[in-house]
Amino acid sequence: MSDEQPMTARKGAVTMEKLVNLCKRRGIVFPTSDIYGGLGATYDYGPLGIELKRNVKEAWWREMVQFRTDVLGLDSAIFQHPRTWEASGHLQNFTDPLVDCKSCKQRFRADKIEGDRCPECGGELTAARQFNLMFKTFMGPVEDTANTVYLRPETAQGIFANFQNVVDTQRVKLPFGVAQIGKSFRNEITTENFIFRTREFEQMEMEFFIRPDPAEEEKWYRYWVDFRFNWHVKYGLKPDHLRRREHGTEELSHYSSGTTDIEFLYPFGWGELEGIAKRGSFDLDQHAKASGKDLTYFDEEAKARYRPWVIEPALGVDRAMLAFMLDAYDEDVVENEERIVMRFEPRLAPVKVAVYPLLRKGGQPEKAHAVRAMLARHFTTAYDQAGSIGRRYRRQDEVGTPFGVTIDHQTMEDDTVTLRDRDTTTQERYPIGALVDVLNKKIGWGAD
Ligand code: GAP
Repeated sequence: MSDEQPMTARKGAVTMEKLVNLCKRRGIVFPTSDIYGGLGATYDYGPLGIELKRNVKEAWWREMVQFRTDVLGLDSAIFQHPRTWEASGHLQNFTDPLVDCKSCKQRFRADKIEGDRCPECGGELTAARQFNLMFKTFMGPVEDTANTVYLRPETAQGIFANFQNVVDTQRVKLPFGVAQIGKSFRNEITTENFIFRTREFEQMEMEFFIRPDPAEEEKWYRYWVDFRFNWHVKYGLKPDHLRRREHGTEELSHYSSGTTDIEFLYPFGWGELEGIAKRGSFDLDQHAKASGKDLTYFDEEAKARYRPWVIEPALGVDRAMLAFMLDAYDEDVVENEERIVMRFEPRLAPVKVAVYPLLRKGGQPEKAHAVRAMLARHFTTAYDQAGSIGRRYRRQDEVGTPFGVTIDHQTMEDDTVTLRDRDTTTQERYPIGALVDVLNKKIGWGAD
């Protein structure tokens, strides 16, 4: 691809180990069921992690739905009728090839290992067999096959199943998209690299319905690959840590006739961040066949009835968080002191502004509490009065808080405060009454 980088290793301070430690130490990501020794490849988000997660989803929703007139939102159930997964092909095709080591009994994805011996102990491997990645459970009190339901492995099918509902109730005209954010579940064989690949995760997906026409398909496919690439850059990923990679035919999902991955350079190498797929009318055709419903769209201009084709950008929330954290991580020296600083794009930063009284006397803590409460109506805030002011700044730098407001003796006289910038560490003085506007401008809300 034209913008492919020859680089295979990242420069800079971050390693997976440093990031995992920071996430645990500062309450961003905890292993699920930590007190019981964890549960394979599932993670919980702590008080700061949930804020980052909300911001990532908000950044996606604003750009994919709110700012546009051609995309609508949806929130479908995690459980869908079991026939959904028969029609979508997931029961048949959503599988990974599984091999067991005959000596150490470990299991591997056959397509992820090199050679024909066990990568752990060198033992002999079984022949590969197909393993379905969908989690099963039972609906209702009877545990029999008639009651089997699946936890959705992608949010997309809830959108296809609601295609007719959207067309019938909204005044939509092709091309238009339906977007959804929600949990998905996959019983992954190999889980690795922290929140990169987990068994429970969240997806942000959009099905963009277009006229069934190859030129139209190519145009929108390119449009969405570029749009999504630029979104990642806008919210803080370094362009030289991103590349587009087109799937070979042998690699394509069962529903896709063309897929481009936006790949990111993780500390463990290039890997998928987001996929943009041409799904054609595969899903609508399959659901029409299985349900007996029409699922067509009437094109007023062409006076024709057809099933639209689909372009789908699909991104994992957790995986996006991992990439944003990796590219935010930095270490530098401020006033002869080393610091870790998460250079989050301000809109993604878990806490936007921290408020500090310089001293714990003279009315400063009370004033600082009042300023924090006022700012909290507009932004996520933190309050900190423990330790030296330098240490307090460092604590917020480490979790990427872009701005700090300090209440000092002058505040008590003229209602002005200093506003500190995380990246430059410079301070400017502002009246308290101007803070909301100044911060809004610096954060970039409304200017995007
Ligand atoms: N509807 C299309 C679809 O689900 P996918 O490439 O299988 O396509 C889309 O998934 C995105 O979801 C991936 O690019 C990745 O960001 C995220 N994702 C997929 N499986 C994941 C997992 N096990 N853990 C975390 N994120 C995952």
